[in-house]
Amino acid sequence: WEKRPLRLWKYKELLPVQGEPVSLQEGGTPLYHLKRIGEELGLKNLYAKHEGMNPSGSFKDRGMTVGVSMALQLGMKTVACASTGNTSASLAVYAAKAGIPAVVLLPAGKVALGKVAQALMHGAKVIAIRGNFDRALEMVHDLCISEGLYLLNSVNPYRLEGQKTIGFEAVDQLGCVPDRFVLPVGNAGNISAVYKGLLEYQALGFTDSLPKMTGVQAEGSSPVVEAIKKNLDVLIPEKNPETIATAIRIGAPVNAEKALTAIRATGGCALSVTDDEILAMQRDLARKEGIGVEPASAASVAGIKKMAEEGLLDADEKIVCVVTGHLLKDPETVIKQCEPPTEIDPDLESLLAVLR
Ligand code: F0G
Repeated sequence: WEKRPLRLWKYKELLPVQGEPVSLQEGGTPLYHLKRIGEELGLKNLYAKHEGMNPSGSFKDRGMTVGVSMALQLGMKTVACASTGNTSASLAVYAAKAGIPAVVLLPAGKVALGKVAQALMHGAKVIAIRGNFDRALEMVHDLCISEGLYLLNSVNPYRLEGQKTIGFEAVDQLGCVPDRFVLPVGNAGNISAVYKGLLEYQALGFTDSLPKMTGVQAEGSSPVVEAIKKNLDVLIPEKNPETIATAIRIGAPVNAEKALTAIRATGGCALSVTDDEILAMQRDLARKEGIGVEPASAASVAGIKKMAEEGLLDADEKIVCVVTGHLLKDPETVIKQCEPPTEIDPDLESLLAVLR
């Protein structure tokens, strides 16, 4: 392993783990040129980094390979998190690989089916709270302090260390620093992590500029957008966040201040998109580019569509959108949007009749 680290772990010198990590060969995800969508929007250099292609189907695996490795290194016996779904799926996967128990707290009834299925099948203790994600995070925080569990939400700095590799990889794949880096924002950990990674690359002399960090939130759940708009340093929590993109249904993002710094220091911006815009882009990515993502992931590209339509982007601008989770994470939202399969009698005549 030491001689030929794979994918994310080829950046091991820039990561805190000593010795062999708890790894399932995460990272190394594809960077796709969005040719058709780019053409429609008048953008020649629009790219999507498909984080749904990680082992558990989201970018959280980058954080968890480092976070769970550090839990072992620090001698912690049990790991825990609150989650809108993907963090819990990823924690369950990496705790299984590490051979330690995991406890996950979910907002009851507000987590996509595929994510709950993963957390259950990989053997986590899954608890649904009658409250939202923000409350679940407060509770798991208190639990970890009183019972000595290791908290692996994005308040844990090692999580962000792993996730900063999205920035390294995108630069390496593109062969340069993009002009703009676009991420869906929920708890605001990922945008902060990518910014940290890009700052490190610059400090090491690998690059000589930073992209405009651009955060996209769902309209019913957009406290970071509000803070940027009103020029606030501390954000006002949204008490009742609501969006079809349940992954980013978060009213009090714990990494908000870091995200505000990332956006402001790079001349970036934050904007919100409606649920309809998110779902339309989920379909466009699936049908025009062959890229299957969950709703929250489509928010980044939906944000770019909105900016392009408002004339805020340059045709040559190199834009990397992170699409954060796989289509199959949320099958229910997919089924609701699509025509059901046409059922016919088992003969050729019936088949030809429906195809004509
Ligand atoms: N996209 C997806 C698919 C996510 O699952 C999340 C966060 C985000 C974007 C936003 O990232 O929180 O770093 O700003 N999901 C967390 C979870 C909160 O519990 O799975 P962020």
